[in-house]
Amino acid sequence: MALRLAFDVYGTLVDPMGMADLLKQDAGDQAEAVSSLWREKQLEFSFRKGLMRAYEDFGVCTRQALRYAMATHKLDLAGDREDELMTAYLSLPAFEDALPTLKALNGSYPLFAFSNGSYPALEKVLGHNDLLDQFEGLVSVDDIKSFKPDPAVYAYARRATGAWDEPLCLVSSNAWDVIGARAAGLKAVWVQRDPNKVFQDWGIEPSAVIESLSDLPESLKHL
Ligand code: LAC
Repeated sequence: MALRLAFDVYGTLVDPMGMADLLKQDAGDQAEAVSSLWREKQLEFSFRKGLMRAYEDFGVCTRQALRYAMATHKLDLAGDREDELMTAYLSLPAFEDALPTLKALNGSYPLFAFSNGSYPALEKVLGHNDLLDQFEGLVSVDDIKSFKPDPAVYAYARRATGAWDEPLCLVSSNAWDVIGARAAGLKAVWVQRDPNKVFQDWGIEPSAVIESLSDLPESLKHL
């Protein structure tokens, strides 16, 4: 049976912390802190909008989280700067291991990108990094107007990737995403990019743990 692979995008293929460099202009030495609060709140807002059944495009969560992170640090964005940063978010840098790994797996496994991001945002950020052509398809939560880790989203991913009889495996650096996928019956590989990152002890384990996407082809042989 052909294992299908669904790659999370933000944090796994492209790096949201890539915004920290740009934020130096607006936040000086607080740029790293603003960038990480921005990402944290972007996710929290998506979780909450999902629970509230008040879905909005992930880009809205991103924009609202940027405003919150700046306000928390008592910083302002001048003129069109907010729009400029939102545009820059569409060309976040890819992690170095992303393209070589997708190329190595292509032909052996059906590859999908599976994300909270909308289709236009995914096409831009993956296209910008030459990753788009590696995928057989994209799966956005926008199709069902909810967010990860709603189990309906993972069930939808299975349907959208045609994984009826074949297993579907999420590849994600986000531990909460891995737990969501496992709880919904998918396989899931956790990419522990940062060795200091702890997996949350919920009694729901990843199918495999790797330090870098480069270890994925080998790890898949043992799933
Ligand atoms: C995604 C975010 C949640 O791409 O990482 O789905």
